[in-house]
Amino acid sequence: MDKSFGTLWGVSVGPGRADWLTIAARHVLEDANAIACPQDRQGNPGMAYRIVREFLSGNRKILALDMPFVQDSATLTAAWDRAAAELLAILNCGGDVAFIAEGDVSFYSTFTHLARTVNERSPHIPIEVIPGVCSPLAAAAALKMPLSTWDEKVAIVPAMHGLEELERALDWADVVVLMKVAPVFDRVWQMLRERGLLAEAGLVEWLGWPRQKVFGSLAGLQDYRPPYFSMVIVRSQPMRFGRLDLDLPVL
Ligand SMILES: C[S@@+](CC[C@H](N)C(=O)[O-])C[C@H]1O[C@@H](n2cnc3c(N)ncnc32)[C@H](O)[C@@H]1O
Repeated sequence: MDKSFGTLWGVSVGPGRADWLTIAARHVLEDANAIACPQDRQGNPGMAYRIVREFLSGNRKILALDMPFVQDSATLTAAWDRAAAELLAILNCGGDVAFIAEGDVSFYSTFTHLARTVNERSPHIPIEVIPGVCSPLAAAAALKMPLSTWDEKVAIVPAMHGLEELERALDWADVVVLMKVAPVFDRVWQMLRERGLLAEAGLVEWLGWPRQKVFGSLAGLQDYRPPYFSMVIVRSQPMRFGRLDLDLPVL
């Protein structure tokens, strides 16, 4: 690697607990000259920063980047351009930047857009990726259920815009993970009730945070309003050799 330029690291920090951080991630965080992360609604370093801050020693530069939570393409590309320019000011002077994101940086993460923007502007900058725990795997662990066994098919569906894909996924897959489910939870609940799958579906919120909640069934949650950091996992087919029935933590 050409050390006249810094490396942009995409560092996955997991969905919540600091001890879900990998050793590789910790090494990059210890060595990076600057830590970049999406900012929260108040403009402060956001969720990813709160997960790793206990590991950030010294007087490190922290860049809280404005990554707006909108759909408009022009607004998004303008924000990615501004963020990339901030990172390139350090990278082009030889400084390494660790962009931290909750969960895994390759899974529905702003890191992808940022890395693409940096690469388009400055293809000479090396970009490396550290994998981590993504939320569906942490959710399966919290629900004490396997995400898949044998030859089962798993579908991952971001549910925020509609349920047509969920219908198709339930027909096709043995297990369906519904990300970003909060805005459509009431409709998801109705659909699962109509299919007789409420008892086969679990809901998890704030995985790995002190406010974590785990519901092993959706029965009784008709009027429930989950937060943005929540997901539903539905088993649409019975498990070969029977299900794993372990006690969930009492809420
Ligand atoms: C933009 S995606 C980010 C996914 C993340 N990169 C990952 O690897 O898990 C945000 C969605 O992921 C899920 N999610 C992420 N972190 C979570 C957590 N700690 N608890 C529950 N759901 C979470 C929720 O469905 C949320 O709406």
